[in-house]
Amino acid sequence: MTRIARFFSNDLGIDLGTANTAVYLRGKGVVLMEPSIVAINRDTKEVLAVGLEAKKMLGKTPANIIAMKPMKDGVIADFDACEAMLRHFINKVKSPRHKFVMPPRMVIAVPSGITSVERRAVRETALKAGARIVKLVEEPMASAIGVGLPVEEPCGSFILDIGGGTTEMAVISLGGLVLTKSLRVAGNEMDEAISNYLKKKYNLLVGERTAEDIKINIGSAYPLEEELTLEVHGRDLVEGLPKMIRVRSEEIREALKETLLAIVGAVRDILEETPPELSSDLVERGLVIAGGGALLRNIDKLISQETKLPVKVAENPLLAVVTGAGKMLEEERYFKMFPSE
Ligand SMILES: Nc1ncnc2c1ncn2[C@@H]1O[C@H](COP(=O)(O)OP(=O)(O)OP(=O)(O)O)[C@@H](O)[C@H]1O
Ligand SMILES: [Mg+2]
Repeated sequence: MTRIARFFSNDLGIDLGTANTAVYLRGKGVVLMEPSIVAINRDTKEVLAVGLEAKKMLGKTPANIIAMKPMKDGVIADFDACEAMLRHFINKVKSPRHKFVMPPRMVIAVPSGITSVERRAVRETALKAGARIVKLVEEPMASAIGVGLPVEEPCGSFILDIGGGTTEMAVISLGGLVLTKSLRVAGNEMDEAISNYLKKKYNLLVGERTAEDIKINIGSAYPLEEELTLEVHGRDLVEGLPKMIRVRSEEIREALKETLLAIVGAVRDILEETPPELSSDLVERGLVIAGGGALLRNIDKLISQETKLPVKVAENPLLAVVTGAGKMLEEERYFKMFPSE
């Protein structure tokens, strides 16, 4: 590619996540991070809002407007909505000089458990949204590249990415995924666990967003030095009226216990399957946690206690995957590691 074309590049790295979609523009860095939500008029199918704007409508929409999530469990649940969303975000980040350059190359991160039919669907969606060349990269690989693990070296690296819909983990060595595991248990499941807990214990009904807020504000995976409390507003299931209660972080930890056990269990399974030479690398180098779930208080302490490995939380866990997809565009050696679709 000539220097001019490079300069005017519109090449994009995309993390099409269940909770958030992030876009990296080559030469610029991460230029967009918005919720993966589309608001649609149920009758006309017209797209009314995308991303942040659509999230504001969630749970507050009149009957004829649906705010929906095109990605579920890490895969595309609604193709039309996904295409509309991708197109919207691509248009939003496109440089004004776009008309002078070739259509962009796109690197898109997909869950490692995705089927070939689903791969084709993602590729088609990207092509329809304007891509020239599409490369799909497994999320744990993108995440590992994004957090700066030495994926090409002959030594074992362990990445754990806890997203909204899926938890993905992999042992990587010599540019390949040696072992991977993808669980459909992640942040959304934690939110559900919190709302179920409040329903059972307090007869309190809270919405999806409130449950997520509770998790973000006082959620934890392991005892805190100073435990926290939060006022929670919801609706009393018996009386049907608005109600406020004070919730403690210990209670939320209890609510999250099962979800966290599932994640820890999967990490231990994969460690048991890891070939001994790579295991010894892991004992020394530990594992890195990325994805929004890495921000749960003391998740590193819990994983470290349960695996006896050193654990590090990525510096920008929400951006690990998109940063990795971006690095693949910036550095040919990474780009060449993966075949085009
Ligand atoms: N501070 C926080 N504490 C706990 N969880 C958090 C925090 N901030 C964000 N999250 C959670 O992280 C999740 C989103 O993470 P992320 O953006 O990595 O997911 P995603 O990539 O969209 O999903 P997936 O990878 O499953 O497709 C949400 O469930 C969100 O509630
Ligand atoms: Mg993700």
